[in-house]
Amino acid sequence: MTTPTEPIIINGNRFSFEPGETILEVARRNGIDIPTLCHLKGASPTGACRVCVVEIQGARSLAASCAMPAAAKMVVQTESPKVVAARRMVIQLLLASGNHNCAVRGSDGRNWTDFQMAVQRADSSQELCPVWGDCRLQDLAYRYQVNGERFAPTPVRYPIEEVNPFIVRDFSRCIQCGRCVQACNEVQVNQAIHYGYRGARSKIVAAGDRAYRDSDCVFCGECVQVCPVGALVEKDVRYKVRPWERRSVRTTCSYCGVGCQMDLHVKDNRVVQVTGAEETAPNYGSLCVKGRFGFDFVGSPERLKKPLIRANGAFREASWDEALDLVARRLGEIKAGSGPDSIGVLTSARMTNEENYVAQKFARAVLQTNSIDHCARL
Ligand code: FES
Repeated sequence: MTTPTEPIIINGNRFSFEPGETILEVARRNGIDIPTLCHLKGASPTGACRVCVVEIQGARSLAASCAMPAAAKMVVQTESPKVVAARRMVIQLLLASGNHNCAVRGSDGRNWTDFQMAVQRADSSQELCPVWGDCRLQDLAYRYQVNGERFAPTPVRYPIEEVNPFIVRDFSRCIQCGRCVQACNEVQVNQAIHYGYRGARSKIVAAGDRAYRDSDCVFCGECVQVCPVGALVEKDVRYKVRPWERRSVRTTCSYCGVGCQMDLHVKDNRVVQVTGAEETAPNYGSLCVKGRFGFDFVGSPERLKKPLIRANGAFREASWDEALDLVARRLGEIKAGSGPDSIGVLTSARMTNEENYVAQKFARAVLQTNSIDHCARL
């Protein structure tokens, strides 16, 4: 296929595009912000939420820019009065479709007690939504200046699922955008969650509507990372960490040699949450269960801070110099007495490639043994 010579015109500006690019992709590539909720980069577009609609000259209805391919001479408006009115309506409907108790709903002071009581009834907490300040629906409600009071709220049909080890599923906050389903099926290819039921009873289900822990879910947490609202939240983070209380530190996962990039979220000098770095290779936001949830050891009081030497059947703390001298002397004695092949070296898959390289150099060149391996479980 050849690149079209005629450009697309978005908000009066002419842009070239590649065949197959959507209006959304061309717009974002050129710094034009079209809001989205259901769109998940890298997954097939579903057009489920209709927040990304744009006006195309000559078209009978608004089009979902995440699914509509760009075309030569197409004239597009991304924030026309018609577009803004449609987006406001979509956001109002979503805010009314469950328990979106952010400050945009019923928080004008007069109803504060009712509001708190309703929140407490819904999820046993007197606090605002657990992702208040970190919610894309709330962002859009502020951006388009709408609240959830235009339409009667729909009743909460399904209880919160808190039995899982790492993830709380709050169906009252789910907007059925389907990002979690796509993340599970198209990104991680675990195929653990799907759409279930129909119409007003529709719900995202796992294994015939069972809890995550009783399904094929491997708790990679991809669904949590892509959830744009508070429907899927890490259990240890829910109501304990607010976005303004934490700072983020980019680092490399230490669990294996893949080198996944992650952001450690730190509160009071403790790691409290981990998310995948979405814009960076090799993982582009994805993590495994260990990388995303296995960070307790970082702040564990049981971590060794000094070398331990076993003496008379018990461990005692030692300095690094003393420990290294002891290891060097004993390895030398064993090598001299029994030969280098009586020594084996076991490293770890949690070490970097460079560390493992140095370890095999040490084994082969210094100890003069080829008995070196690594254990994936260390
Ligand atoms: Fe395009 Fe949801 S982002 S329809």
